[in-house]
Order: sequence, then structure tokens, then C-alpha cells
Amino acid sequence: MARRTKVYEGKAKILYEGPEPGTLIQYFKDDATAFNAEKRDVIEGKGVLNNRLSEYFMTGLNNIGVPTHFIRRLNMREQLIRAVEIIPLEVVVRNIAAGSISKRLGIEEGTPLPRPIVEFYYKNDALGDPLVSEEHILAFGWATHQDLDDIVALALRVNDFLSGIMTGVGIKLVDFKIEVGRIYEGDFQRLVVADEISPDSCRLWDIKTGRKLDKDVFRRDLGNLSEAYAEVARRLGVMPSNATPITKPKLMN
Ligand code: TMP
Ligand code: ASP
Repeated sequence: MARRTKVYEGKAKILYEGPEPGTLIQYFKDDATAFNAEKRDVIEGKGVLNNRLSEYFMTGLNNIGVPTHFIRRLNMREQLIRAVEIIPLEVVVRNIAAGSISKRLGIEEGTPLPRPIVEFYYKNDALGDPLVSEEHILAFGWATHQDLDDIVALALRVNDFLSGIMTGVGIKLVDFKIEVGRIYEGDFQRLVVADEISPDSCRLWDIKTGRKLDKDVFRRDLGNLSEAYAEVARRLGVMPSNATPITKPKLMN
């Protein structure tokens, strides 16, 4: 079989050329990083779970008319996606204070916020993804006013959708991050939800016990990360309760 062309490799995923123009294959690795990759590990089964979970959320969004880059899952670790031009922003929506907002503004973790708060971070690893304002985004041309309106609307629709789903399975959606991409169609452009939606990019707390079911388990050394993600998948009916994620043997390099 011909070797596929790698288009991009990030910390948790690899993008390969897709079978048709305008498509890409997104491969989910088992690598976990935190604190701008200062902490890293390989977590058996994480890629399989995130591929499934991102498929589940993106399909649900597509079904309610929130456009995403997702086309279909191809196998355990890969999905076919539309090629998009990624807007260099991490768009974070927060419902409950946790993580950086708690530190920055001195709000105790777990405090419900008066309303969902949308924040923008400039996607730049070398700078540690700094928080930026609309002024920076407009002045530096990362997005237009219209884009920002559309991005906030998308982010809030994703928030409503994900919050509803999570509440239904006894989980609080504390916060999450999305990335947004542009698709050009003739003279027009559309903005779509891109990258991934998974417990890597959300904070998810069990409603009854407060148990963390997201990447904070890894960031804060709270236990087995794959088990936490598998619990989310099991509750959503994405994976049967007794399924062990099938993983490839680890290759050392
Ligand atoms: P924060 O509290 O560290 O700013 O993170 C807010 C949310 O965004 C949290 O759910 C984790 C997610 N996030 C990412 O997915 N990638 C990142 O690089 C960062 C900093 C946060
Ligand atoms: N994903 C980022 C990193 O690799 C930050 C984080 O999720 O904590 O460092």
C-alpha cells in the first residue's frame, strides 16, 4: 500500500492527505500532554476513545445544524474530515469556574459563573496560548468582526448541546475548548467546528460525586485517564461497558 502523505502532526493527532481533494484523515494518537507539553505520557487507549467520542459529539452537532469538519469515522483511530483553514484561536466556553480562570481571577473552583463566558486564546505553543481580547484578534487580523460573531454563536450552540447531553448522563460540563475552521465554497466562506471534542478538551465532573472525568486526571495525577474517558463513553452508550479499547503495540523510538 502506498505510504500516506502526512500533512501535519500535533501533540495528540496526525493529519494525513485524504482520499479526495478537500478532505483529510485525522489520526488520534495515545499521547497526552499538559502545561504546554511540559508533562507528557502515552496513555493506552486514549486515541481510540477520543476518536469515538469526537465522532459522537460532531455527528450530534451536524444533526442539529451546527456545522463541523467531521465526515465519518474510518476505523478505531481515524476519521475522515473536511480540510479547513484553522482560525488561530482556542475558543473556550466556561459554565463553572475551574483551571486558569480560577487562578487568574481568584474564583474558587466549582463556583457557577453568572452566565457562560466565552474566551479566546491565541493558538501559539511557543507563547503558551495566551488569553487575547477581541481587540487583539481584530487588530492582528486573525478573524473579522463577522467571524467573531459567528464563532461566539457556534461556541454557545455547542455549549447548549454538550451541556444537555452531559446532564443527561449525570455529568456537569464545566468548560470546554473548540477550534473553528474556514471552508471556502466559491465566493463564500463558512465557519465550522474543527479539531476534536473529547475529554481532552473539556472539563467534565460527575454530578453526584464530583469525580473528574477529563484530562485533569492526567494534569493533576488523579488516577487512570483511559478509565475516566471510558466511563464517559460508557455512559453515552458510545462503547459497551465491558469493552477494552483495542490498541496497537507501542512502538519505541
Ligand atoms: P484552562 O482552564 O486551562 O484555560 O482550560 C479551559 C478549557 O480548555 C479546559 O476544558 C481545557 C481546555 N483546553 C484545551 O483543550 N487545550 C488547551 O491548550 C488549554 C489551555 C485548555
Ligand atoms: N494541551 C495543552 C498541552 O499540551 C495544554 C493542556 O491541555 O493542559 O500542553
